[in-house]
Amino acid sequence: MSLVDLPLLPLGKGRDLDAERGVECPGDLPAASDPGLVERARAAKAALGERVFVLGHHYQRDEVIQFADVTGDSFKLARDAAARPAAEFIVFCGVHFMAESADILTSPAQQVVLPDLAAGCSMADMARLRQVEDAWDAMADAGIQDSVVPVTYMNSSADIKAFCGRNGGVVCTSSNADVALDWAFSQKAGGDAKILFLPDQHLGRNTAVLQMGIALDECVVWDPHQPGGGLTAEELQKARMILWKGHCSVHGRFSEDVVDELRVKHPGINILVHPECKHEVVLKADLVGSTEFIIKTIKAAEPGTVWAIGTELNLVKRLADAHPDKTIVFLDRNVCYCSTMNRIDLPHLVWALESLVAGTVVNQVTVDPETEADALVALQRMLDLPGKSHRD
Ligand code: 13P
Ligand code: SF4
Repeated sequence: MSLVDLPLLPLGKGRDLDAERGVECPGDLPAASDPGLVERARAAKAALGERVFVLGHHYQRDEVIQFADVTGDSFKLARDAAARPAAEFIVFCGVHFMAESADILTSPAQQVVLPDLAAGCSMADMARLRQVEDAWDAMADAGIQDSVVPVTYMNSSADIKAFCGRNGGVVCTSSNADVALDWAFSQKAGGDAKILFLPDQHLGRNTAVLQMGIALDECVVWDPHQPGGGLTAEELQKARMILWKGHCSVHGRFSEDVVDELRVKHPGINILVHPECKHEVVLKADLVGSTEFIIKTIKAAEPGTVWAIGTELNLVKRLADAHPDKTIVFLDRNVCYCSTMNRIDLPHLVWALESLVAGTVVNQVTVDPETEADALVALQRMLDLPGKSHRD
């Protein structure tokens, strides 16, 4: 069976250790209705003291984020995990690829725990190593492989990061994609490298076109489900950006017509979106940036201003609650949480923490040493990138 034919596993069912999702939780979880859960989480965390460090991504539920020692976007959390060598256990309230990155960036003595292993990322699952290696071979056949630099978004599995490390590439996040592309273009003589951007076509396109001045028709999309990516050798030779056909199921929902509708309903509204949104939506927005950028922008906004935000709903609701002096609305007609981020709930967090107190490390996320060494090369290149992006 080719990878293209692999069935998609329903969330939380079955077991595919190479996938970002589809892993059952083996635990005996406390009931979600247990009124003592907050107290139990507090007590378990207190019992573990400095031995545990809890990281919380901005898209996590309120019930979980209250227990985070630090909150952040994926870039900040990767740095924070690396800067905490004394903590024996890193409990990562986020998704699988983030926990993998934390494992790579922390010492071998530290153990990274993901409270629910079914908290994967559908975008990360859209680029599997064998598919990427096939694409790489096709680029050799088209005579361009030597000029291609692979750049992968943090939202990818460790083996894709390792592929980039092995092949002269780098990791980027939504905070520093422009700086990473700058670096990648400069890796080949004459600054005319081609970039293979994985796995989010939207972040790749938005960054290339809107920040690097690359023309839309210099971007092509590699579809791993089509023979030859659906591209001719000539199209590959002409392209500067080869965008992997992946997307975020949450940010991909935002649409231009809702932007138009809100501009009519709230004259003077500011539209603020994440760069994982479609290019057409970003073109209609007033501001675009990572989750950290979105938070900073709202904090700095004048009282009385009106904002529509195109990112995950847990964060938008938290921003609305924290800034009652501003009007903040969601850029979608429907409720739209990231279902995998939402897998981490209070029962899973309590179960993970209480298991650690009892001396059992549950749901440990580990990356094999070979993958880890190559992925670290690409991650370290990212951490060493010069300067700051305006999106940070
Ligand atoms: P950042 O945390 O880099 O903003 O990415 C958003 C996201 O989708 C995380 O899963
Ligand atoms: Fe993945 Fe999108 Fe969810 Fe982030 S918000 S974890 S990119 S599906």
